[in-house]
Parts: sequence; C-alpha cells; structure tokens
Amino acid sequence: MREQVSDHYGRSRRLIDQIADSLKAEGIDPEKLRAADFEPVDEFHFRGRQATLQLLEKLELAPGSNVLDIGSGLGGVARTIAEEASAKVTGIDLTQEFCDAAKTISDWVGLNEQTTFTQGDATKLPFSDSSFDGAVTVHVAMNIPDKLSVYKEAHRVLKPGARFGIYDILQGEGGDVVYPMPWAMDASISYLATPKEMVGFLQDAGFKVLDEDDSTTESFEWLKARISKPKSKSTMPVTTQILFGDIARDMVQNQLLALDERRLLTYRFICTA
Ligand SMILES: C[S@@+](CC[C@H](N)C(=O)[O-])C[C@H]1O[C@@H](n2cnc3c(N)ncnc32)[C@H](O)[C@@H]1O
Repeated sequence: MREQVSDHYGRSRRLIDQIADSLKAEGIDPEKLRAADFEPVDEFHFRGRQATLQLLEKLELAPGSNVLDIGSGLGGVARTIAEEASAKVTGIDLTQEFCDAAKTISDWVGLNEQTTFTQGDATKLPFSDSSFDGAVTVHVAMNIPDKLSVYKEAHRVLKPGARFGIYDILQGEGGDVVYPMPWAMDASISYLATPKEMVGFLQDAGFKVLDEDDSTTESFEWLKARISKPKSKSTMPVTTQILFGDIARDMVQNQLLALDERRLLTYRFICTA
C-alpha cells in the first residue's frame, strides 16, 4: 500500500527538473524567487499558504522552535513555518522524489539551514521521544489507513504540552467522493475519516483536542476562484497540476463537486500532547 501511495505522487520523473524547466521557459530564475512565490506548486492543499498561516497562528511557537511537518510533500508548509516563525522545521515524507524537490527549493530560496527533509513513514517516525516543540500535518492522513499509529507517533515525538496542528481532508455527510482525486486515482489508496473518528483517534493517541474548525465552504470558494483566475505572465507558471497532467482537470471538477455537496470536508484540529 505504501508503495502504491508513493508511486501515485512520485510517478512524474525528475519533478524538480520539470519545475526548473517550466520556470526557465518563462524567463524566471528559480534562485531569484522567494519561498512564498512557490505557493501554487509547493503548498499542496486547499487554501494554500493562507491555510498554513492560519494553522501556524494556532501553534503558538516560540522563535527557534523545533517543528515537525509530517507528510511534508514539496516543503511549502515547512518553509512557510520556518520563515514566519523563525523555526527549524524537519519534514518527513513517504515520496523520495518530493523530499529531493523540497530540498532543492529550500536551496533556491535560502532556507536550507532552517529546513530538512527526510524520506520516511508517518506511522514509524525515525525521531526520538519528546524531540519537537510543535508538529503539523497537512492533507496526508487521507492516504493512511492506520491513522492511530500516525497520531501515536506524533504524540511520542512531541514534548509534553507541545501543540499538534492537523489540517486534513475528511469524509463528509454528503456521500462517497468520486475519483480521481489528487491523493488517489480510485478508492484503493483513499482512507477518509469523519470528524468524529478523527477526534477519537487523536484522543486515543493521548492528545487533548483544543479546537476544531470546518473550512469546507472556504475551500470550495478558494478552489472556484483559483480555477477562474486568468493567468498572467508574473504568475508562477507551475502548479500542482504538473504532477497529474490532463487528468488534473477531472480532479479539480471532482473536488469542487465533493466540497459543494459536503462529500469532502476540510478540517483543522489543534491539540496538545
Ligand atoms: C497532498 S500531499 C500534501 C503535502 C504537504 N503536506 C502539503 O500540504 O503541501 C500528501 C503527501 O503525503 C505523503 N504521504 C502519504 N502517505 C504517507 C506516509 N505514510 N508517511 C509520510 N508521508 C506520506 C505523500 O507522499 C504526499 O507528499
């Protein structure tokens, strides 16, 4: 199952070369960009950087904190937190190609000392007990059947009292989603939990849930606005669609419908270890 998930995300070869080539074709030097410029491709979740900033605000991190990003993808969330909170962020992700791309983008924008990216599995974190001052996970658990292990591992590696911010895609009351979706071509690698199940997993892992936020309506409006925005020369030419080619259009339509009909929900949970 893990191989199927990393194949799903990592099947476009030499992703970072494709990103660099697309930028150069538009006359953009990747090393002259700021971290936030990469948002359309490296904040791979509904509501992009804005959602990461809202999550970060709830973490109440002190400057210099050691933060873990579980399922860090191309590293946008990690870089936003590193930059905005003057934190040191460790990303871990199942897909090696994403870890390699995340490292290169951090090099381009001068955040290679504040961010590191390691290939690994969220259900078996390669970190010592009580080693982080905070942790986040953004749009990852929908690919993981054993969510309890993910949250138990997050609890283990956090210092007592540290905050854990989860921003994820959940199963809504509107019925089953229609595939393909960006995290799965079909239901075989998709494991959506309901909000109630999520609270149960987090509590069973030892967390106290402080806050829950349903942002489904905002996610729907954000996606609608994102696809109707005309492209300008100054816009980042690469988006997460680079991963999926022509099928990305079907994914977007399926997401819009699923959010509108509340088959799919976007939710944030803030917990303490
Ligand atoms: C939709 S992307 C989100 C990436 C990133 N969090 C973001 O918001 O930009 C989902 C990510 O979860 C990762 N992932 C899926 N299952 C995982 C697992 N068991 N352990 C670690 N990462 C996993 C995938 O490789 C992929 O990078």
